[in-house]
Amino acid sequence: MKLQNKTIVLTGASSGVGLDLLGALGSSNTIINLSRHAPPEDAVQLSPGFAHVATNLADAASVDRAIEAITLSHPDGIDGLINCAAVQFLPKFTDSDFDPASIATEIAINLTSPAQLIHGLLGGLRKRSESFVLNVNSGLGLVPKKESAIYCTTKGGLDNLSRGLRAQLGGTSIRVQQAFLPLVDTPMTTGRGSGKLSSRDVARQIIRGIERGTPDNDIGKVKLLRIINRLSPSIANAIMQKGDS
Ligand SMILES: NC(=O)c1ccc[n+]([C@@H]2O[C@H](COP(=O)([O-])OP(=O)(O)OC[C@H]3O[C@@H](n4cnc5c(N)ncnc54)[C@H](OP(=O)(O)O)[C@@H]3O)[C@@H](O)[C@H]2O)c1
Repeated sequence: MKLQNKTIVLTGASSGVGLDLLGALGSSNTIINLSRHAPPEDAVQLSPGFAHVATNLADAASVDRAIEAITLSHPDGIDGLINCAAVQFLPKFTDSDFDPASIATEIAINLTSPAQLIHGLLGGLRKRSESFVLNVNSGLGLVPKKESAIYCTTKGGLDNLSRGLRAQLGGTSIRVQQAFLPLVDTPMTTGRGSGKLSSRDVARQIIRGIERGTPDNDIGKVKLLRIINRLSPSIANAIMQKGDS
């Protein structure tokens, strides 16, 4: 599917990878963004037809309102949904500043809201002869690191959700795809990690994967991680748990 003249719901276009997806797609597609803040004005200017639906993805009622607004404003349906927004809270369970309330928030943003959006927008996606859901995942969805246990859990859950829905929607016009990212240079990773890919490059690779219909698009070092994990899960575990990434 060529991503041109499509109507695409994108979460998290206010920052990082989502902002670069908006930059790459916004001039030739209609992008409907769901995040709390609007993207920077210069990105919006380059995206005719852009719409921002202020949404708190941690709040199921806010997500429901966004689904209702999109369904009303696009009675002919939508071509795609890109679940890109996510948070990664850094304190470990053993840290004194670990906030137990953050568990539910992180799960809501990273896992519940993508599931809720897919379900709520199914009707719109089914109105097109060909449509897609792209869930932005992480190498940490394949093999967890020591830090950010809840983040890794949500990404592992997102992988199972994607594979389950891929099977459920197998006979429909909707393709369920994922992009597995390595470490990317965005506000989420400020001050940590090395050898990060640029979010612009990653956005381009995500788009290429959608257009090619790649079910699971492993980007950068995730390609190698998946192979190592298949051959020896214990070596993959040891690699990922030896330090922060
Ligand atoms: N950066 C990496 O190294 C890396 C690696 C692997 C996978 N990924 C994945 O790539 C995707 C993009 O991450 P990124 O690095 O670009 O992160 P980022 O720059 O921190 O951007 C996160 C986005 O999520 C949105 N968001 C956060 N909380 C929200 C809430 N409560 N309601 C609505 N929107 C919310 C933010 O918008 P507002 O603040 O405006 O709400 C922002 O647009 C995520 O799925 C992440 O897991 C990133």
